[in-house]
Amino acid sequence: MVKIFLDTANVDEIREAASWGVLDGVTTNPTLAAKTGRKWGELVQDILALVDGPISLEVTTTQADEMVKQGRQLAKIHKNVVVKIQMTTEGLKAIKVLSSEGVRINTTLIFSANQAILAAKAGAKYVSPFIGRIDDMGQDGMQVIREIVPIFKNYHFDCEVLVASIRHPLHVIEAAKLGADIVTLPFEVLKKMTQHALTDVGLKRFLEDWKKVPQ
Ligand code: E4P
Repeated sequence: MVKIFLDTANVDEIREAASWGVLDGVTTNPTLAAKTGRKWGELVQDILALVDGPISLEVTTTQADEMVKQGRQLAKIHKNVVVKIQMTTEGLKAIKVLSSEGVRINTTLIFSANQAILAAKAGAKYVSPFIGRIDDMGQDGMQVIREIVPIFKNYHFDCEVLVASIRHPLHVIEAAKLGADIVTLPFEVLKKMTQHALTDVGLKRFLEDWKKVPQ
């Protein structure tokens, strides 16, 4: 079954989604962390306390040796921490070192199947293709998922396809149909997945009719 992660650093959203019993993990990035206005260390502890699943925390440097240092520090925080590393040549060097030490890596800012192949070969546990940002440019972001999923299957890569930059529920359905391992969603998209106009109409009618039943 496709795994559902929340793409947020907002603790209230994570708490709510976790209470629905559908949340498998969380992805964060510096932009999402900045939106909260909260201290990073406290935020991370709150997220870890809410979700017992992979929590991606991103390194904030561009040199491989610095990425390795930061990655080790992040991985030490908790067993559920996944270190998010950018798809660059320096990132690949860091992925190689950290993955050989048993640190799980989520390679971020993936926009092509070639980048995904390289990240997986270097030892990443997850690749995050950003499909919404490709759509934003007037191209078909889902095409990258159409390419990556069979390639990873062909070669039995031990690397999961984590579909990121999701903009709407249709992206989720398409990603699941293609056999992607994970979708990471803004809370608003997760909420929309629960909704249907006929559910609301049906519920209203059931509640009204129940009042007519002699008690
Ligand atoms: C993934 O891990 C990223 O945090 C995220 O999906 C980026 O999405 P955006 O394009 O909405 O910023």
